[in-house]
Amino acid sequence: MPTEARKFDVVVIGAGAAGMMCAAVAGQRGRRVALLEHNAQPGRKVLISGGGRANFTNIHAKPENYISDNPHFVKSALALYTPRHFLGLVERYSVAWHEKTLGQLFCDGSARQIVDLLLAECTRAKDSGGSVELICNAHGVRVERRSDEFAIACTAGEFRCAALVIATGGLSIPQLGATGFAYETAKQFGLNVIAPRPALVPLVLSSEESAWTALTGVSAMVEVRAKHGPAFREKLLVTHRGLSGPAVLQVSSYWREGEMLAVDFGPGTKLLASLFEKNARRDAAAFRQVLRSALPQRLAGHLAETAMPEKWTNAVLEETERRLHAWTFHPAATEGFAKAEVTAGGVDTRELNSKTMEARKMPGLFFIGEGVDVTGWLGGFNFQWAWSSSVAAGRAV
Ligand code: FDA
Repeated sequence: MPTEARKFDVVVIGAGAAGMMCAAVAGQRGRRVALLEHNAQPGRKVLISGGGRANFTNIHAKPENYISDNPHFVKSALALYTPRHFLGLVERYSVAWHEKTLGQLFCDGSARQIVDLLLAECTRAKDSGGSVELICNAHGVRVERRSDEFAIACTAGEFRCAALVIATGGLSIPQLGATGFAYETAKQFGLNVIAPRPALVPLVLSSEESAWTALTGVSAMVEVRAKHGPAFREKLLVTHRGLSGPAVLQVSSYWREGEMLAVDFGPGTKLLASLFEKNARRDAAAFRQVLRSALPQRLAGHLAETAMPEKWTNAVLEETERRLHAWTFHPAATEGFAKAEVTAGGVDTRELNSKTMEARKMPGLFFIGEGVDVTGWLGGFNFQWAWSSSVAAGRAV
């Protein structure tokens, strides 16, 4: 005999950052919420985030820090629930934190504190007459619309609800339980999806540029720019397959296959300035020396051999200086979803109400977090989107 479907006001699918936050907010409004997760535990990505310390927000987060086909979409949610709001929550739970750099806030202790805080907020729902029931190991989730409610079936049973929130994230790191469920569900209900692609991801160099990989482990402060998007002045790291480090991860979210990257190896400085001084020695040894004085040794050595001027005239030196500030790379690919910190693309924001995250074509259906076509920069911006979008939906369901 099939068991009878359990009725809730709200079912949230995916107990990651966004799903737990949304369930807590809805529960604290007196809603009866079921939070379904296919992993055996909630928040696995949160637990490993920020090197185990969770860069849980960026205090400077603003719409310009997000990539979307529709860049205005993030404004309402980010204004509704700001980094200061989340920091207030962190402080209410006495979680010690510090600012690492550029507004990036991390736990002093462990990312586990953020998961515990979110679960405690879910438990607090009962103070307002609501409830959040977390159901893990819910495999094979399927959803369908039945008259004015949604029917959800999975290995954990059958559920009915008036409001259904999809918080299953993107495709990054399948080993942690990432699936394309948000995209499949959007398509099932006739919503457009912007093709998902790996973002905040290392880039692979082609065989023509593979000589660079001999510098594996070299790291330098640079400014990197893709064809579209802003330049990022942060560290670049050479890997055995290509390029990584914060500067490259940032531009990877803007980079598209076939495009090049321009790297400035001496942002804000004139690397060869001393060669232009009166009576300066101008030869290969002097050229190597000026690069060594400004750059990490192995990088300086590589650049000196690759960019060695053929003549020592002012014109040739100026051209060499220009080249060192706009060194072009032609990445062949990204390292894919297995190495991507986030997924760009996702449910087309034009399909959603920016104040509530509800699907325009399907009242009662909401999408939040990384499954939506909103991708933050590196540095706490993606969690802030998870919090802001989930509070917007949690107050509307
Ligand atoms: P999230 O992926 O957190 O949660 C989705 C949940 O849905 C998961 O629990 C998943 O198991 C579940 N799920 C998926 N499919 C399902 C299905 N079919 N049925 C049931 N459940 C399903 N960001 C940041 O701001 N600061 C940081 O420090 C970091 N660090 C970081 C490190 C690493 C290694 C990674 C991979 C990513 C980060 N990020 C980050 C990004 C950040 O983790 C990410 O943007 C948020 O977790 C997104 O939150 P969501 O809730 O949308 O998805």
